[in-house]
Order: sequence, then structure tokens, then C-alpha cells
Amino acid sequence: MPKQNYAITVAGGGSTFTPGIALMLLEEMDRFPIRKITFYDNDADRQEIVAKACEIYFKENAPEVEFGYTTDPAVAFTDIDFVLAHIRVGKYAMRELDEKIPLKYGVLGQETCGPGGIAYGMRSIGGVLEILDYMETYSPDAWMLNYSNPAAIVAEATRRLRPDSKILNICDMPIDLEEKMAHMVGLKSRKEMQVGYYGLNHFGWWHKIYDSQGNDLMPEIKEHMAKNGFADAISDTNQHVDESWKHTFQKARDVYAVDPETIPNTYLKYYLFPDYVVRESNPEYTRANEVMEGREKMVFGACKEVIEKGTAADCGFEADAHATYIVDLARAIAENTMERFLLIVPNEGALENFDSTAMVEIPCIVGSRGYEKICQGAIPQFQKGLMEQQVSVEKLTVEAWIEGSYQKLWQALTLSRTIPSASIAKNILDDLIQANKDYWPVLS
Ligand code: NAD
Ligand code: G6P
Ligand code: MN
Repeated sequence: MPKQNYAITVAGGGSTFTPGIALMLLEEMDRFPIRKITFYDNDADRQEIVAKACEIYFKENAPEVEFGYTTDPAVAFTDIDFVLAHIRVGKYAMRELDEKIPLKYGVLGQETCGPGGIAYGMRSIGGVLEILDYMETYSPDAWMLNYSNPAAIVAEATRRLRPDSKILNICDMPIDLEEKMAHMVGLKSRKEMQVGYYGLNHFGWWHKIYDSQGNDLMPEIKEHMAKNGFADAISDTNQHVDESWKHTFQKARDVYAVDPETIPNTYLKYYLFPDYVVRESNPEYTRANEVMEGREKMVFGACKEVIEKGTAADCGFEADAHATYIVDLARAIAENTMERFLLIVPNEGALENFDSTAMVEIPCIVGSRGYEKICQGAIPQFQKGLMEQQVSVEKLTVEAWIEGSYQKLWQALTLSRTIPSASIAKNILDDLIQANKDYWPVLS
């Protein structure tokens, strides 16, 4: 792709993250010039609120950028270079059920882990494939940067069903945690570190961290983790700031204690301490409620205010600085920067003692031809055991979706470390089927 002004489509135009990302794109224009931004969503009413407000913002702050929004795939996906995809199939109403149904059976409710993640995966696969297909139909040279969740299951589905498509699956959790670790050791930015990492999405570990002179930063970071987890480490995001996130960063100390040789992703708490997570949960009020009353109200409130006033001046919109990794990734493709990113990619030997067909999260070098994996060698027995179980959950979920198999989805739930028995798995599954009948394929 030659250096030019790029055309971007944001899929999930009505997302709570869209205004922050759109403003971030404008702030980064000197690094990544944009000629056209189009929002696409399949919920016209929801998108309208976010898009109208952004339209006003763009007119006032970047009139040179052609801005539009649509629910028509032909309009959204024609003549574009990148799709930034963050859709939530079923929206927050379904996230709430994903979290609350398992809790009825004493099992944790989380949007991407355990039964909630499996349920969400069964909804997301079709939505993400649909967008990928639109992109390939209308702009065959474009790339999709996907951060729609649950990324592990979505990535496995694209590996199985669209193996040749130009999609990069990426998660922002390691970015925030790397930012925190950089600050623990007195560096200004995570970009001053080079890391070794292996795992699945929301299920991984850092095993090497060096500064730009090659000094080993692990001893100092380990000392900090043993005392405080990620709790008192600063980062530049305003995304993970609610009380429940603070607990998660604190709990990382206990997660770290289980294997003091590596630094864990915060999401491992759901697999290593599921009983604790259930005890801490309120079955009547979960993270979905917190987000609906917090981020969703705030973002939509701000958008409505912009629309009513007819101006975005003093509207409180903020660029999402944390999301600049999306521009870094798009630039890596567009301008062949060969920057390193943790991506979710087919293993194919990068972790030498692990399933070669697994979608793993590892460092990759990204350039205009896509990614090249950086081998992480053999993984330790503890991580291997955990990952083999979890990757089987993810693979069985995708197989269940493809084949419409009740049996395989029951097996997926039964294998999840978060569920104590096959009978509880079955009860949860039967409730989830009822709740998801508008979204899941029919299972038999
Ligand atoms: P949201 O519900 O506010 O927004 C999602 C939007 O997607 C909605 O407007 C919805 O109408 C739309 N949508 C649903 N199905 C669609 C389809 N088939 N086609 C087009 N649009 C569709 O959700 P949110 O909280 O803003 O999160 C958006 C997504 O981003 C979620 O999947 C979330 O998990 C993910 N996310 C991922 C990361 C990461 O690190 N990977 C970080 C943050 C958010
Ligand atoms: C992290 C994860 C994302 C996830 C988000 C959830 O950033 O990497 O995959 O979507 O947290 O945040 P929320 O505020 O919606 O609970
Ligand atoms: Mn993530």
C-alpha cells in the first residue's frame, strides 16, 4: 500500500469506544493521514446518536476529512483501506445475561471468560465473519483490525472458516499491563521495553522483559508484583479505572504467586480463583450493569448534548490515548514499519510443545505483508496444562457453532475450569440456549 491518505471504516459505529477512537484518529493524523471515515453498524438508532455527535465534531475540527455513517454494507465497505472492528453482537442486554445466568448456578459470570465468554463467542462469530466478508467483497485489498470480543473464539473461527483473510486480531489488555510495568521500573513508555509473551487471548504470561539496552527488567517487576500486583502501577488509560478493575489489578498479586517465574495477564484470575470471583460477585449487579450505568450513560449523554447544542465545543469528548496502538498497527501494515505487537495468530510451531493449530497470543513483527511470528520456544508444564484445556474449550465452541452441535457446546462448557461439573454445565447451557435463541445457530 503506498503512502497516501487512508479511508477507514469503523464497524460498531454505535460502540461506547467509537468517539474516543474517532478523536484519537484525528489526533494522530500527522502520523496516519486520513481522507475518509465511515461508521457502520447494524443498529441505525444506536449508531445515529454517536455518529451525529461525531459528525458535528468532525465539521468543527477536521472539515477536510470526509465523514459519513451508514447501515448499508455496500456504502460502508467500498473504497476503504482499513476496517476497525469492535462490534458487540447482542449489545449490553446480552452481556448482562452472559454474566447473570452462570451466577444463578454458582459459576462466575464474565464477558469473555467461562460460560459468558462461550455464549458471547457463539453470537460474535457470525457478526465478525459477516463484516469480514463485506470488506472482502467491496474492498478486497483492505485489512481488518479486529478487537471485537471474545477475541480468542473469534480468532479461532476466522482461522477455521476464513484462513486467507486479511484480519489481525489484537487485544488491548497486554498494552495497559505493559504500560503499568514500564512505569513500575521508571520507564516513560512500554515502547521502551521488549517482551517475550505466550498464551491464549486473556490467558497469557510474560516470560522476558528487557529495556532498550537489553537489561533484564523481570527481577524488579517481580518484586513489585509480589507486593502489589498491578494495583498501584500507573498507566495512561482511563478505560480500566472502575472499582472492579482495581480489584482485578490487586488480585494479580495472588495470580502471580502461583507461578513467580512469569508475569500473568489479569484475566487469569477467572481461571485460577473462580471461587473467589463468585464470592465477590453480586448476582443482581454485574460488570454489565456497571458499564451501562457508567461508560454507556456517559458516552451517550455527551453525544446527545453535542447534538442538542449543535456544537462539540466543551463537550467533554476525549481522544482515547490508550487506543493509539490501533494507529501503530494500521501504520505497520500501510507503511511497513515492522513494529512488534502481541497478536492472536495460528501457533504453527511458535510455541514448540503446543498444538500447532491453536490460536495463540505471541509477539509478532508487522509489515505490509502481514505478520511474522517470533518463536517463544517451549512453554512450562503448568501453562501448557492450563492452555491445552482452555484452547480445547475455544475449539469446541467454534466446532459447535459450525456444526450446530449441542454435544460439543456441552463439552466446551464442561471443560472450562470455571465450571465444576458436567451437570452444572448442562443447566447453564440450557438456560443460555433459551436466552440466545435470536443469535445462536440452532443446536441439535
Ligand atoms: P457496544 O455495545 O457499546 O457497541 C457495539 C456496537 O456493535 C453496537 O452499536 C451494536 O449495535 C454493534 N453491532 C452488534 N452487532 C453488529 C453487527 N453484526 N454488525 C455491525 N454492528 C454490530 O459495545 P462496547 O462495550 O463499546 O464494545 C465493543 C466491542 O469491543 C466489544 O466486542 C468489546 O468486547 C470489544 N472490546 C475489545 C477490546 C480488546 O482489547 N480486544 C477492548 C475494548 C472493547
Ligand atoms: C480489557 C480487555 C477487553 C475488554 C475490556 C472490558 O480492555 O482487553 O477485551 O473488552 O477490558 O472492559 P469493560 O470495561 O467493558 O468491562
Ligand atoms: Mn481483550
